Amino acid sequence: MKLTHEENQMLEGLEGEAVRKAMEILVAIGTIYGADRLLPVASVQIAGVSYDNLGEAGLEFLAEMASTDAKVKVLTTLNPAGMDIENWQILGIEAEFAENQRRVIEAYTKMGIVPTCSCTPYLFGNVPHYGEHIAWAESSAVCYANSVLGARTNREGGPSALAAALTGKTPNYGFHLVENRQPTLTVEVQASLKGTHDFGKLGIALGKFIESRKIKAIPYICGIPGASLEELKSFCASIATYGGLALFHMQGITPESALFQAPADSMTITPVELEAADDFLNMPSSVEQVDFVSLGCPHLTLQEIGRVAERLKGKKVRKTFWITTARPTKRIADEMGYTAIIEEAGAVFATDTCCVVAPIQGRFKVMATDSAKACYYAAGKNGFKIHFLPFDEVITEAIK
Ligand code: F3S
Repeated sequence: MKLTHEENQMLEGLEGEAVRKAMEILVAIGTIYGADRLLPVASVQIAGVSYDNLGEAGLEFLAEMASTDAKVKVLTTLNPAGMDIENWQILGIEAEFAENQRRVIEAYTKMGIVPTCSCTPYLFGNVPHYGEHIAWAESSAVCYANSVLGARTNREGGPSALAAALTGKTPNYGFHLVENRQPTLTVEVQASLKGTHDFGKLGIALGKFIESRKIKAIPYICGIPGASLEELKSFCASIATYGGLALFHMQGITPESALFQAPADSMTITPVELEAADDFLNMPSSVEQVDFVSLGCPHLTLQEIGRVAERLKGKKVRKTFWITTARPTKRIADEMGYTAIIEEAGAVFATDTCCVVAPIQGRFKVMATDSAKACYYAAGKNGFKIHFLPFDEVITEAIK
């Protein structure tokens, strides 16, 4: 891989030990994947923020990096943490966990990383434009940035994203190259889709098809007349979870779809496949009483919070109900009066975190949500049974 004079200096340690280590990681990855050079990136999104996932070893690594006075070179934002940073007690988080989580955020902040603690950085401030090279790690956000915004990123791991942040570089391979962004599979959707739940089902159906074929497909999806930001956000999270995808094209909706023809290899999704996706998640055991309700995977938009407020106005929730969102979005919800209505009804904001990365394993039995991604991890990581419902029905479940 050909390095510039400045990159060679970083590799030789002229900018300090942390930058030298970061450059070593990037050169190793670039060599493995056959990159010809490093590219400058416009922004980075770091995953691996919850102390629940990092543990002591992760925290020590971050604290050591931060102690070197290393600073990020480009706009860098953080994925959700394991708790609401300002209001962790209300979520039943232990004081010891809170202290460790605070130290994780402190280490990241010391390196100049913006503690947005959200998987939707594209809603506030970290918004790459079409064709821009970035290095993001959160799978749903990577899929959104590549597909909906037309930016270019591979799905980074924790160390490679941090290395990109400290150097402002990433190896030129994978989805940074136009030839690797060509669609390979036409997906004809012959069903009408409405809402985040339906788009989550589409992600499950398509993801399971791709996994069953053991192929690395880039879908070219046809037959969807329109999709809202919230629906695309839900689809990105679902297809990244169930199909491991980081890029798709949606005819007439995503920007690069205009550049390509529909590939010859094709498959069709009808209401039958969507129904099967629903059945896959709503297993018979989930008829048990729901005791936990969560909306906001990926983090809720202001419009979604407004919709929750509208439906909870004057009502009382009867189950633990988490509204998970980013702090900037929550602040506007406060201004709009949505927060007061929602809290008056007894639901709680789980800002900066979510039902997957918070340390709540075994605390609930059955969770209701509209998010296909949250269902996957609630069952796998947290041991919950799940109820996968449309957005409004999730709210109904909380108050019944
Ligand atoms: Fe975001 Fe947590 Fe879902 S990080 S995509 S809300 S699992």
